[in-house]
Amino acid sequence: MQLTINRQTYSITEDQEIRMLVWVLRDQLGLTGTKYGCGAGICGSCTVLVDGKPTRSCLTPAATVADKEITTIEGLGIIQDGGEEILHPVQQAFLETQTPQCGYCMSGQMITAAALLDDNPAPAEEDIIAGMNDVYCRCGTYVRIKEAVARAAEIIAEESSNG
Ligand code: FES
Ligand code: FES
Repeated sequence: MQLTINRQTYSITEDQEIRMLVWVLRDQLGLTGTKYGCGAGICGSCTVLVDGKPTRSCLTPAATVADKEITTIEGLGIIQDGGEEILHPVQQAFLETQTPQCGYCMSGQMITAAALLDDNPAPAEEDIIAGMNDVYCRCGTYVRIKEAVARAAEIIAEESSNG
């Protein structure tokens, strides 16, 4: 079986197909940016994009996403025309606003924020709160997360006005 992750194709052995995606990413492929928290679909730290939709990789058997595009935090960056990879606006904004504390939840936060802004590039404050509501931060950085998502929306707007 093959998985398409961050624009690359990976061959997965039969014994890995039945594993949850989070473990294939972390143990098999070394993509350890995706974190394991509750293992029950609640905390959101394991969130990756599957065909652009935020998805709990702790509850997703690898075999079920064989024909899909998977994006982890390692692949969230934007590839420019010349092939250079730059930070996604969400990554830029989380860095600028110094949002992470311990950082454990941040991959899930940034992946979720990227999907939110993809759906709604100019979210109101309540849209940000609603969209980010189901990714927990044990360090309680929620105010900075909200600021970071708003800043990412500004960066996206600036970039689109610059053409
Ligand atoms: S580890 Fe997947 S939702 Fe918590
Ligand atoms: S920054 Fe520590 S859990 Fe969110």
